[in-house]
Amino acid sequence: MNSEITSIFDLEAMAKQRLPEVIFDYVHGGAEQQLTLERNLRDLRALALRQHDMRDVSDPKLDLTMVGQPARIPLAIGPTGLAGLTWPNGECEEARAAVEFGVPYCLSTMSICSIEDVADATGKPFWFQLYLMKKREVNESLIHRARDARCSALVLTLDLHVQGKRWADAKNGLSVPPKLGLRNMLDIGSHPGWLLSMARSRRRTFGNLEGEVQQAGNVAALSEWVEAQFDPSFDLDTVKWVRRMWDGPLILKGIMHPDDAKLAVDVGADAIIVSNHGGRQLDSAPSSISVLPQIAEAVGSRTEVLFDGGIRTGSDIVKALGRGAHACLSGRACLYGLAAEGAQGVLCALRLFEQELKDCMALVGIRDLRHVDAGVVTAQPGL
Ligand code: FNR
Repeated sequence: MNSEITSIFDLEAMAKQRLPEVIFDYVHGGAEQQLTLERNLRDLRALALRQHDMRDVSDPKLDLTMVGQPARIPLAIGPTGLAGLTWPNGECEEARAAVEFGVPYCLSTMSICSIEDVADATGKPFWFQLYLMKKREVNESLIHRARDARCSALVLTLDLHVQGKRWADAKNGLSVPPKLGLRNMLDIGSHPGWLLSMARSRRRTFGNLEGEVQQAGNVAALSEWVEAQFDPSFDLDTVKWVRRMWDGPLILKGIMHPDDAKLAVDVGADAIIVSNHGGRQLDSAPSSISVLPQIAEAVGSRTEVLFDGGIRTGSDIVKALGRGAHACLSGRACLYGLAAEGAQGVLCALRLFEQELKDCMALVGIRDLRHVDAGVVTAQPGL
């Protein structure tokens, strides 16, 4: 590992330096005033870990399974659209790093590399994240393609009936492929490293939705495209339809209320992801860590409870496990790694998480991450 990289925050700084502003802002930012994005980070940080010092912590156990699949640490790489704009063939690189390290990788519907590209790149199973489109035949086709590529889980995202307003993206004129107005030309031109490397990209637009992009003509602002394509009318019946269409593990992502978590159990979800989309959708939503305990309690052991939102260190993962998560997903942290150094940067992020987990376990007095006692996590005031 590059000795100058001591934390995810170093990867973030490298990503900021290498990427044009229009791409970095897309990765880094949240919706509107970014209240929820800030809450995700702040509320995780505010939790304290209580240690026990007279325990044998040699030979720590970090691995477990997520929806039955092995994970070397309790973390999967979450779906992030447009990852392929941060590094050439970025999704394939991220998937390769996940396979090399040994954690699940989830490909977004909104990826640049296609389902088939990623399947060819690794030859190993990965998860596919589905957004529901207005045209049912597009949804059917994506589900069939995921099945044909032997995806080992379908992650259905529920929190994007419409896209949250991301002010920076609107100001920067984010479009796919990047629109070359004067401002963007200056921005992109001043990042020649990124520009030259992107010449190695196989694709320039959404690899899973080429037909839809062609029909829409030259892609306008990302938000307008999403509005035109995504289905704001989907509901519980649509989720049941997806359940019937997909017979492998189904994971429902974007659960923020115990009532929805119970519905997820009723429709037969194998796992849920407690998530507010990294603060990119409903601004003013609570932090995902603050709602995790009540959701975990509502479903008990009837479905696997996964968590994302604000994970930047190994101790963040330990806090989420102590609050009732079985395992976590990482969005931005791994994406910063990808943007900084491609597959090597993603591996670096995963190794940092692993080392930080080991350190945290030893210092807190935890030997097995499958059994993190709720008592190790506490809100700081008054303990
Ligand atoms: C996302 N996220 C996301 N989620 C999803 O279901 N489908 C998607 O296409 C995307 N795209 C996306 C792009 C980018 C740039 C980011 C940062 C996030 C949300 C993601 O899966 C996850 O929920 C959050 O990123 C978790 O928060 P952290 O780890 O980024 O703090």
